[in-house]
Amino acid sequence: MSDKQDNKKNSVKPVNSVLWAGRLAEKPEAEAFAFQASIAVDRRLAFDDITGSRVHAAMLGKQGIIPAETAEALDAELGRIAAELESGALTIDPEAEDIHSIIEGILTERLGDAGRMVHAGRSRNDQVALDLRLYLKRTIPALRAELAQTIGALLDQAEKHAESVMPGYTHLQRAQPVTLGHHLAAWCAGLVRDLGRFADALARLDESPLGAGALAGTGLPLDRNATAAALGFRGPTLNSMDSVADRDFAIEVAAACAITQTHLSRFCEDVVIWASEEFKFIDLAEAWSTGSSIMPQKKNPDFAELIRGKAARTTGNVVTLLTLLKGLPYAYDKDLQEDKEALFDSLDTVRNCLRMFRGMMASAKFNTERMKAACIGGFLEATDAAEYLVRKGLPFRKAHGAAALIVRDCIEAGQRSIAERTLPELKKRSELFDDDIYQALTPAACVAARSLPGGPAPDEVRRQIKILRGSI
Ligand code: ARG
Repeated sequence: MSDKQDNKKNSVKPVNSVLWAGRLAEKPEAEAFAFQASIAVDRRLAFDDITGSRVHAAMLGKQGIIPAETAEALDAELGRIAAELESGALTIDPEAEDIHSIIEGILTERLGDAGRMVHAGRSRNDQVALDLRLYLKRTIPALRAELAQTIGALLDQAEKHAESVMPGYTHLQRAQPVTLGHHLAAWCAGLVRDLGRFADALARLDESPLGAGALAGTGLPLDRNATAAALGFRGPTLNSMDSVADRDFAIEVAAACAITQTHLSRFCEDVVIWASEEFKFIDLAEAWSTGSSIMPQKKNPDFAELIRGKAARTTGNVVTLLTLLKGLPYAYDKDLQEDKEALFDSLDTVRNCLRMFRGMMASAKFNTERMKAACIGGFLEATDAAEYLVRKGLPFRKAHGAAALIVRDCIEAGQRSIAERTLPELKKRSELFDDDIYQALTPAACVAARSLPGGPAPDEVRRQIKILRGSI
């Protein structure tokens, strides 16, 4: 909904907008009514609600439950309402109860009894479950497209840096040389699984709850198969109580959001570390950095920090949804109204963060010289020295011991790398060392040697990038 739809002046206040008023002589006071209303959150389901109502009305006409002309009038009016909402000619009354009652109220105001016929065989319980699924069916593909574009942007950088050596870390201590391409491809491998998680969630929620009614279906001869097909669902849901009571699909989508956001938070932590003066591996574009209000020299990685911080929200939303469902008696309870705020927040957060992260990473420059220099000094080549000896027949445990002693020798002698030792010095720890050891210990050689599937060797990283590209 755009802001202009908040403009109360143009909004239509439907008559009888409270759908349940008949049974109750008294209406809640304004504050209490507003407390139980959900319009502020479910207004974004307006078009899905209209889509569902159009299909429901057409089916009611076809099944002879309402006159064919009434079904046609309802369809035309619902189409008009959608167009008016789109253009801003019609705005949603922020004081309405929920999106379902306001659309039905407008129909009734404009069409009289025809409007009063649209809800036959339907409850807001199946209606809201339907609207939410329709909303996810159109927004998850868009979110997956954002994810795919983000992966694409990272892979462009990975490709550019397939040969740029950098230290790989464990325990945030320099461990072994890798390439920046390898590191970025590692991020992408996780994001590609996230793509799959959204697709899986979408496939499982692809069933229409319409016709489940309040919980027990209806005695009216609805055609659930027809409405499911017309709405683009694989089919109708199996059980009417399950249809209105469960929100496992919302938990699943929120979990996929939380996992994606957790991934982003880790990547952003890497970026924050890399952007520090101590590392200086990355130079974020000025447009993707912020300054300090007091310290004139500052260029802060605020975007990365904020994306990292927003993972708190998406994690919280999963907990909210799980807690909402925990112990909730079957079938529908009003508690379920709380599902949408958490779910929408997760979807919005991930979408925004993917876009920001993509912009930040696509414009970043990498300081490949600093990365390369950081491969020297932490004895990242020690494992390769041990593997050199293994290749010459020494049992690994002995090779590990010899390389460890050499590292100690270096530290004692104030040397920064194994290559600084002479061959006779190396031979003191193992006779198997030869002249070719020096060539084997350069960062580029260490990386090139690790060409197994999954490894950081440039050609292998290019192969990984190709596969990742193929899966987006
Ligand atoms: N606003 C409600 C929700 O989001 C719609 C369903 C209301 N049903 C009811 N029986 N109160 O869940």
